[in-house]
Amino acid sequence: MKIVVTGGAGYIGSHTCVELLENGWEVVVVDNLANSSFEALKRVEEITGKKIEFYQTDIRDKSKLSEIFSAYTSNSETSENHQKCSIDAVIHFAGLKAVGESVALPLEYYSNNITGTLTLLEVMKQYGVKNLVFSSSATVYGDPHTLPIKENFPLSVTNPYGRTKLMIEEILKDLHVSDPSWNIALLRYFNPVGADSSGRIGEDPFGIPNNLIPYIAQVAVGRLSFLNIFGDDYNTPDGTGVRDFIHVSDLAAGHIKALPKLFTNPGVVVYNLGTGKGHSVMELVRSFEKASDRKIPFKIAQRRAGDIAACYADPSKAERELDWKAVRTIDDMCRDTWNWQKNNPNGFRKD
Ligand code: NAD
Ligand code: UFG
Repeated sequence: MKIVVTGGAGYIGSHTCVELLENGWEVVVVDNLANSSFEALKRVEEITGKKIEFYQTDIRDKSKLSEIFSAYTSNSETSENHQKCSIDAVIHFAGLKAVGESVALPLEYYSNNITGTLTLLEVMKQYGVKNLVFSSSATVYGDPHTLPIKENFPLSVTNPYGRTKLMIEEILKDLHVSDPSWNIALLRYFNPVGADSSGRIGEDPFGIPNNLIPYIAQVAVGRLSFLNIFGDDYNTPDGTGVRDFIHVSDLAAGHIKALPKLFTNPGVVVYNLGTGKGHSVMELVRSFEKASDRKIPFKIAQRRAGDIAACYADPSKAERELDWKAVRTIDDMCRDTWNWQKNNPNGFRKD
């Protein structure tokens, strides 16, 4: 059973590759390494003792993508067009993901995320591979009126990154209407954090991190001097923002549970992948201090433009239909992030 993982060298992709390999899947990674390192895949192989087939390719390069799918296609007597592709499904992580950058570089985001996805879908269609797991985001819910967030809540987005996610969701629904033999899982992630328990792979952002936990981790390790907490006057228990932080290995496991669902021909299905619990920025700081046994210096700064006060999932649909539930706590998330960061202070780059 073979899975193509676009963006498989990235943060969530590499952790999902570990889960796939440990669950007996063969893995083919397509990644242009625009935001990741080949070293991550070498370490996935080291963790699992299994091999990955890797193609350093931009998913917008249709001819190269076709060559890859063609390499796994053989003539078959049984299939209608006498061609059989041995790829069972695609998990599609490849994309750009920084909200602020997307406001400055909308064309890059639309090209990479939308054109990339369209090219991938065209090639999948050409080779008769019609099972897809797509990385969507809780950002498609905008600022929800009530919490926790259910999959049927209204959708709205406020920046180009979020728009690419929502547009791709719509494109995938249209595709299924046109050809019901497609099976597509839209997985809406909440806030992925943490690292593999081995400490060998983890989140390795280029430049100064935008997201909370990688920023805290770099303060703890001494690469940055203090954390800016963006606002302490929100309508939340301690005034700081509240999010549904989910351990990346729990998130990865959600993808493995989505695959058998696709093979039951469900059409388009949508799931929140979160823990269902909200934790504040301040709680995360305290948990990280405990995990690292270091003080995290911080300053209270202005609210960050575009941030909402609180966001957490109702993940019960995924529990019911996929038999999946996040099990790791914020202390586990901070412990594993710290284990990764202290053993790899410069990420995957050599010192
Ligand atoms: P990441 O940047 O670590 O991984 C994305 C990978 O895709 C990288 O390895 C990058 O090199 C690759 N890539 C980008 N454009 C490509 C292209 N055109 N062709 C081939 N490869 C390409 O990001 P991540 O955190 O692992 O996120 C994975 C997916 O999950 C993204 O689609 C992201 O939008 C989505 N997501 C992430 C979060 C989060 O907080 N991390 C939350 C919700 C959704
Ligand atoms: N925060 C700080 N200081 C920082 C960074 C973040 O106080 O240096 C705060 C934010 O204000 C927010 C919380 O920490 O209250 C979480 O912020 P992140 O940037 O870590 O995450 P977001 O919730 O803003 O967004 C993330 C991804 C989006 C994705 C969204 C929902 O970056 O791509 O989760 O999945 F859409």
